[in-house]
Amino acid sequence: MPIKPLIDAATIARRVAELGAAITSDYAGQRLILVPVLKGSYVFAADLARGIELDVAVDFLGVRSYGDGQQSSGVVEITTDLSHSIEGRHVILVEDIVDTGLTVSYLLQNLVTRQPASLKVASLLHKPARTRVPVDIDYLGFTVEDVFVVGYGLDHAQKFRNLPYLGVVTDDSE
Ligand code: IMP
Ligand code: MG
Repeated sequence: MPIKPLIDAATIARRVAELGAAITSDYAGQRLILVPVLKGSYVFAADLARGIELDVAVDFLGVRSYGDGQQSSGVVEITTDLSHSIEGRHVILVEDIVDTGLTVSYLLQNLVTRQPASLKVASLLHKPARTRVPVDIDYLGFTVEDVFVVGYGLDHAQKFRNLPYLGVVTDDSE
């Protein structure tokens, strides 16, 4: 078995539905823009969006983070920008994982200058052991240990995004 299972598909589905329900109640009566950060959050964002019973728009941010593969440097370049203005709108940035926090904190700083009505963060995973910049995660799926997680959108060298569950890369995963 190349990937050690960490969180199974049913557990993920339950938690994501809970986050969707929390967002539905917190933003009752309001319109919302979900901003998934490509590519890692595409699976989470697709399920989260379907768990939100509100008027939801989706717009994507593509980022390239310079680093050595498993480690982000915090130097983030926006490779695909939002297609519409977010001024005066309620925005939730959707991430796969907050690791050092450098990517999300950079993106929050950038988005806030565009003057949204509100700006929150949803992240499937958080790896607090590696925090370099503390980030408030408003809607968090799961906290994980300091391991490299793949599946459900998360990759290792572009592989494993299509796994329906979350797992940990082991030495024989290549
Ligand atoms: P941060 O800037 O260190 O918080 O890194 C965030 C980004 O690094 C995430 O959005 C992922 O793309 C990637 N990343 C960090 N840890 C993992 C992991 O365990 N598995 C897959 N990608 C990861
Ligand atoms: Mg990412």
